Amino acid sequence: MTALTEHKAEVRTLVRDARERGVRVGLVPTMGAMHAGHASLLRAARGENGFVVASLFVNPIQFGPHEDFAKYPRTLEQDLDLCRREGVDLVFAPTPAEMYPAGFATTIHVAGLGEKMCGGVRPGHFDGVCTVVAKLLEIVQPDVAYFGEKDAQQLAIVRRMVRDMDLEVEIRGCPLVREPDGLAMSSRNAYLSPDERRQALTLSSALAEARQAIEAGQRSAAAVATQVRRRLEASEGVRLEYAVAVDPDTLADLTEIKDTVLVAVAARVGKTRLIDNVLLRGLK
Ligand code: PAJ
Repeated sequence: MTALTEHKAEVRTLVRDARERGVRVGLVPTMGAMHAGHASLLRAARGENGFVVASLFVNPIQFGPHEDFAKYPRTLEQDLDLCRREGVDLVFAPTPAEMYPAGFATTIHVAGLGEKMCGGVRPGHFDGVCTVVAKLLEIVQPDVAYFGEKDAQQLAIVRRMVRDMDLEVEIRGCPLVREPDGLAMSSRNAYLSPDERRQALTLSSALAEARQAIEAGQRSAAAVATQVRRRLEASEGVRLEYAVAVDPDTLADLTEIKDTVLVAVAARVGKTRLIDNVLLRGLK
């Protein structure tokens, strides 16, 4: 049985009841419009916890004034079906007023990490993410919270925030899930026209080439980033925002690629902003 509530107080009560039964609690924060990427996080949480909470909240404060908050897909009924199929115990779907009552004035800002890459293009975005994630962690108080490597910068920032604020939760990163043709799954893919959908494939194919080059021994981060950048700049219908090869934990630029690298890109295809990355660990 999947319970649904929009009230923080009810979440606290139900989680407390679960804890009294001695079970571990897992949280999967989402903005809904769920797809197989979200499902993979729910499945990971289901496998490791006796009580699984999914939050479903299109968080207004992480959208810029000219971004897609109003038109972000809202598919509550389908999302609830998916949560039921994945065995979620509790869906927390608050209203904006429940999360941000009148007078709300606090922001969490992770300096440095939150300002580069997507943070440079979307000022304040990660403040909005950190503020809502901190609130969700406090409301649910999970043992483990699950985040996708699709949003690699978000994952690095959330980990930093949890360490810095001594939050008692384990942050689990889960692999990026792709469509069969390679496109990274995203709620925003729904905005793409058939032509744009085809053009968007250059992101994943440029990253697949970068992966091959690194696996074949390329160790210059600048060369990898330049290769991806050139490919995307030459690609019709794609407006590149950034292509970088960085340390996945600190997001610092690398000179030489050693055992770990995150190659990440952001681009616009038509009006739709897409991100994608490859994360390589344990390189020799
Ligand atoms: P949303 O975009 O709904 O994503 C929710 C979670 O699903 C994130 O951790 C994200 O990384 C993960 N996810 C999305 N697409 C994925 C894919 N293709 N493969 C694997 N995981 C994927 O990210 C957010 O919401 C919000 O910023 C949130 C953390 C909920 C705060 O509002």
